[in-house]
Amino acid sequence: MDKPFFYDITLRDGNQSLKKPWQLSEKQFIFEKLKELNVQAVEVGFPASSHMDFQSCSALADMAWDNLVVSALARTVQKDIDSAIDSIGHAKIPRIHTFLTLSPFHMKYVLNKEPHYCAKKAIEAVEYAYSSVKKINKNAQVQFSVEHFGDCIENLDFVIGTLKKIVKAGASVINLPNTVERTRPKTFINMIEKVKESLPDDVIISLHNHNDLGMATATTVEGYFAGAIQLECCLNGLGERAGNTDFAQVAVALHNNGVEVPVNLDKIYETAMIISQMSNVSIYEKAPLVGPEALAHRSGIHQDGAIKTKDMEFGAYRPIHPSLIGRGNDEKIEFTSQSGKTAIFEIINNAGYPITINEAICLTPVVKEVSEVKGELSVDEILEIYFREIFDIKGAFELVSFKHLAGDKFKLDFKFKDELKEVEGSGNGPLDACLDALKNAGFPRKLSHYKQYALDEDKMGSGATAMSVIKLVGKNGEEIIGRATDKNTAKANVKAIFNALNQVYK
Ligand code: KIV
Ligand code: ZN
Repeated sequence: MDKPFFYDITLRDGNQSLKKPWQLSEKQFIFEKLKELNVQAVEVGFPASSHMDFQSCSALADMAWDNLVVSALARTVQKDIDSAIDSIGHAKIPRIHTFLTLSPFHMKYVLNKEPHYCAKKAIEAVEYAYSSVKKINKNAQVQFSVEHFGDCIENLDFVIGTLKKIVKAGASVINLPNTVERTRPKTFINMIEKVKESLPDDVIISLHNHNDLGMATATTVEGYFAGAIQLECCLNGLGERAGNTDFAQVAVALHNNGVEVPVNLDKIYETAMIISQMSNVSIYEKAPLVGPEALAHRSGIHQDGAIKTKDMEFGAYRPIHPSLIGRGNDEKIEFTSQSGKTAIFEIINNAGYPITINEAICLTPVVKEVSEVKGELSVDEILEIYFREIFDIKGAFELVSFKHLAGDKFKLDFKFKDELKEVEGSGNGPLDACLDALKNAGFPRKLSHYKQYALDEDKMGSGATAMSVIKLVGKNGEEIIGRATDKNTAKANVKAIFNALNQVYK
């Protein structure tokens, strides 16, 4: 099967639907982006529509890179065809794209013309375009579009008969637009197949699907497998009404289905952002691939799968690795009442704070309860709960003061079940001395781990700059993790020990 041929219509069909169509400089910028994407053809505009359009078509034709087909639209009238030739005929590979409807409804109610009149007009226009453009550029091509091809089911034999003559008249590309999407993809594909098998093999069949029912990508992708090699797509799915077929969706869907796609997929995300800004058409939250929510996971089951397959090319709950389209690895794990322990663990870890999976399990019902009322929680809101639940554990122990006496001696005042204890301890540093003092008070504990973190930001609003994480060995050899923050590093250590003790002595 031949490689897909990406024919971009952002600067024509996309532009004509904008509230503020682009100026030449903007079109030139977008043309450069299309070059970076490596599209095979660009429809640069409709030169007969205005002097400005004519000028920009001509300027863009000057910028064409090697092997790029530069196409311009023309109705089946000589003045339009002349204008298209005058504006882009000098391109390396110019293509005159002329179109006319052959749909029974449209011919009758919009054009008020007989089918044979329309067929003759189309054939003559192609003959004229072919002979005129070939005189000035031997590389030139002619494309004919059956506007409203999707509405031609009842006169398909007539359309095919006309297309055979159009091909003989010089059209090497036959575009079959679903100008208004009304039918199911399968019905449309059957029509495409019928045209494809009726025309000579070397005729390129092209698809141009509008997205009125939201199935344009599906129809285009399936149409390619039915033999339509040229795919007319628009960046960000811009275009009249609900838009044209989305370029990124088609390219990625084909890629995911084993097709060698001749475009630079890694430019897709950046280009989508630029086009959204330049067109003033925002990318909706749930937009496939490029939408802000396209990689967000909120349910516990999805979050678990997403995290387990995070760095893999094939993800449990995503169609691509974001890097395929040049998107940062922004698979988002957001916490709502539908989320679970994995999300808590991930969010707190990503925020730079230590947490064990057991602690995440303990925090989950607390965070869920808050989320049931508030909805999605921000990282800060989750951290607030984390600090409250994990750092501020109330129990039998209460630290009153911890003071350096002299040399390696410290004084520890604390309450145990409201009874004040004043003890001294000594050791190799404050942590050691505190444990010694506790031993002297009848609470011997062994330290198995100690780590201190510098805090950039004080999430608790207490001015803390240090966080201590310690592990005490429990009576049965189990580990008890204690955490605390403070402005003073020695105090943070002592508070962490009390935090651990309060988990044992409630
Ligand atoms: O949608 C359409 O039918 C068109 C044609 C001009 C190709 O845009
Ligand atoms: Zn269109």
